[in-house]
Formats: sequence, C-alpha cells, structure tokens
Amino acid sequence: PISPMAIAFDAERLTLSPEGPTLTRRMSDLEGLFRDSDAWAAESAGENPVVYTVTSSPVPEIDRELPQSITTIMPGDTSGELWMTKGHQHPNHQGEIYLALQGTGGLLMFDGERTEWIDMQPGTIGYIPPGWAHRSVNTGDEPYSFLAVYPGGAGHDYGWVLEHGMGSRAYRTAGGVELRPYSE
Ligand code: 6PG
Ligand code: NI
Repeated sequence: PISPMAIAFDAERLTLSPEGPTLTRRMSDLEGLFRDSDAWAAESAGENPVVYTVTSSPVPEIDRELPQSITTIMPGDTSGELWMTKGHQHPNHQGEIYLALQGTGGLLMFDGERTEWIDMQPGTIGYIPPGWAHRSVNTGDEPYSFLAVYPGGAGHDYGWVLEHGMGSRAYRTAGGVELRPYSE
C-alpha cells in the first residue's frame, strides 16, 4: 500500500497534482462501438480526433486501494451518435461513483437487461451499482469532465460491451439528447 497523501485538484484547469498516467482515446480506439461503422472508419482514417482523455491520480489500480481519475470527453457526434467512452463492466462487479465537474453529459448504465440514464451536470454524483456496465456521453457543445472513484481491483472488461452492447445509444437532437435502442 502507498502512504496517505494530499492531491491538489485545480477546479478550473481540472488537473491533479501529483498526477499519474494520462490515457488518450482517439476515434480509431473506439472500433465496433458506434452504430455507423462506415462513418467511424472514415473519421478514424481521416483526422482521427481525440474523443476523450483519462488522467489518473497516483493511487495505483491495486486491490483495496481507491484510485481516482478525471475523464474529459470532447464535444461531437458520429452520424448523430454523441461522442462517448468505450464503456466497460467491472469483471468482479464492484461499484463506482462519478462526480460531474464541467460541461454536460450523461451516464448510461446497462445490467444486461435494464438501461438507466443519469443526466450529469457539475455537482451531480452518479452512482454505478455493482454489475452495471457504464459509459459516459458528452451531450453538450463544450468538453464534459467528471471525476471517477473506484475500487483499485475493479478492472475494466471492454469485451462485455462489445458482446452485450449498452442497451441504448445516445443521439444528438435539436432539443438535446435522445436515447434509442442499441440496434437502431
Ligand atoms: C473506471 C471508470 C473511468 C473510465 C473512464 C474511461 O472504472 O476506471 O469507470 O475512469 O475508465 O471514464 O472510460 P472507459 O474505461 O470505458 O474507456
Ligand atoms: Ni468503471
């Protein structure tokens, strides 16, 4: 285990200090996830934009530790489907909390049968119960950022989402966001 520590959080720049590794997910990293696979392929082969980043605190992803990370999703859509994280299930079904920091988004959850959606705006705490796969979506026109706190042994099962989907997809509409069945 590591020692007790303070981590400075800059609420304007949304940085952690000290910070751990940062992960950058470009469009090409999201294979098999957007409904319109031709549009996904064209964007991946073209500008291949950054869709989201995940900056970790120095707390390691080790069982019994309690790591944190800040995810920032860029605004955008691919054939109307709002930019999003890959989405995953925690293999051992541990819970997690998200705290929205900046911008507007949604927390889409799927337990294999039921879909849940939580509107996320700065100050909203979204709770992900054990056994619910989770994906975050940027529903606005500016970057959407949130803090995640999760058990260090939770792990990330991305194959589960490729196999089972997320129940619904989130699309941009004139009035905001519309959820449609995963296959539509
Ligand atoms: C986690 C959190 C969160 C998530 C990121 C990126 O369990 O670590 O749910 O930090 O990993 O928001 O989303 P993906 O892992 O689905 O790409
Ligand atoms: Ni998670």
